[in-house]
Amino acid sequence: MKRLSALLLLALSALMPAAAQACELQINAGDNMMYDRSELRADADCGEVSVTLTHTGSLDPRQMGHNWVLISGERKAIARAGIAAGPDNDYVPGDERVIAATRIVGGGESASVTIDVSELAPGSYTFLCTFPGHSAVMNGTLVLQR
Ligand code: CO
Repeated sequence: MKRLSALLLLALSALMPAAAQACELQINAGDNMMYDRSELRADADCGEVSVTLTHTGSLDPRQMGHNWVLISGERKAIARAGIAAGPDNDYVPGDERVIAATRIVGGGESASVTIDVSELAPGSYTFLCTFPGHSAVMNGTLVLQR
């Protein structure tokens, strides 16, 4: 019995930090026009996943703004729609292909978005920065795993 409890505790302590990590994701981008990660992983059992984007550079958002936009659809088409949506909409199209999006941030700023992943099928989703000219370099994959 004692041994079983110890095993349970071990299993719990191994699981809990991982679960907490996989529900709260961080990604950075700087004046170099790059995200610091090309892949994020989240647990489909989280219910809600928060993503925080931090701009680690110093440039003005009108010059080197970044956002984090999760999509289900074709990246280039959505990037074009984002440019058409313009800066007043943070370059995010009002579009069902957009699952979640942060606002545009400039140097020293952060922005978060919360995603209801209970609505999403496990699998791979594309994210990108829709600031004009950024999406070809600034994109990656969010893997929702169970
Ligand atoms: Co950007």
